Amino acid sequence: MTTEKDQVRIFDTTLRDGEQSPGASMTLEEKLQIAEILDEMGVDIIEAGFPIASNGDFEAVSEIAKRSKNATIAGLARAIHADIDRCGEAVKHAEKARIHTFVSTSPIHLQYQMNKTQEQVLDIITDTVTRARNLIDDVEWSAMDATRTPIDYLCKCVEEAIRCGATTINLPDTVGYATPDEYKRMFEDIIARVPNSDQAVFSVHTHDDLGLAVANSLAGVAGGARQVECTINGLGERAGNAALEEIVMAIRTRGDVLPYACNIDPKMLTRASKLVSGASGFAVQYNKAIVGKNAFAHESGIHQDGMLKNAETYEIMRPEDVGVRATSLVMGKHSGRHAFKDKLKELGYELGDNALQDAFRRFKDLADRKKHVYDEDIEALVEDEIATAKE
Ligand code: KIV
Ligand code: ZN
Repeated sequence: MTTEKDQVRIFDTTLRDGEQSPGASMTLEEKLQIAEILDEMGVDIIEAGFPIASNGDFEAVSEIAKRSKNATIAGLARAIHADIDRCGEAVKHAEKARIHTFVSTSPIHLQYQMNKTQEQVLDIITDTVTRARNLIDDVEWSAMDATRTPIDYLCKCVEEAIRCGATTINLPDTVGYATPDEYKRMFEDIIARVPNSDQAVFSVHTHDDLGLAVANSLAGVAGGARQVECTINGLGERAGNAALEEIVMAIRTRGDVLPYACNIDPKMLTRASKLVSGASGFAVQYNKAIVGKNAFAHESGIHQDGMLKNAETYEIMRPEDVGVRATSLVMGKHSGRHAFKDKLKELGYELGDNALQDAFRRFKDLADRKKHVYDEDIEALVEDEIATAKE
């Protein structure tokens, strides 16, 4: 029996929140390349930039809007007329365009950042969402710092944004403070309490300050959100945003407990990761889930032995499913005889039992001294073993 899965929209903000990462600025050409791959891999909404921020950002958003084939193209705008109008100008070229406008709602932001009362912010929501909606039908409204906002007030803000025409409501964990249970409950409460909540799609947007961004996003989806805002490699402000590749592969791999579907072609994840890493200058850590160099590499003898018998012993995803050519069994001091023999076979050597025993012992000595044992090291060692045996 197959159960119908709920569709979750993937909203990529690599080119906006990702680029806000200190030192991650990208050129127009790099942004166009990234947008192209995001569009091709099935991202539903690409947040292409913050048009009011600079002429360069405006140009990038406009150009991406002109070129996109499938995705909706969004631009970000503060709750200011000039921002909204500039954003509308930039995204209008897209076949599917969105204005994403936001305002802070938490007490600490209202007091220190905006110097406004809750009533004044409600009026700002009325005014700015209406303005955006007069320009474009697809309007997303975000409550910045939603997770530190009193729930009664947040309900009022959400209701007003929907009444004024917002079709997507994003409730960000701006400072990465929430826990999964809290974030899930927030969506459940808001969706249950806001009378017009059925007129909008709810969205998660999480930051990784406590390392909970992906877990929080998935919890928000369990609470009723159907859009996930994320970035390739988790690039983003401070500790970053939820990583797109992790969200997508969690949904695909654990469909038994995460019964959702998305449009992303996972085979393109590795290529997208490399492109973003190159453009942003942010290297991907070796042990990064899904796209790290070691995500499908095994060195321990026990693991290598298991992998040679059945890959499912130590891999829950197939490397080719995310665009990695193959699993790699890395030869090092933890490798076992089985993997060593297999490596020799791959390099074209078949040794008798005694020679194999000797070669394996010498390999272990070498691995103790050297951080990386390359194929060439093993070849040299085996050639030497063969030559010695002939003497
Ligand atoms: O983290 C955040 O609150 C944001 C908003 C602008 C959506 O990035
Ligand atoms: Zn953010």
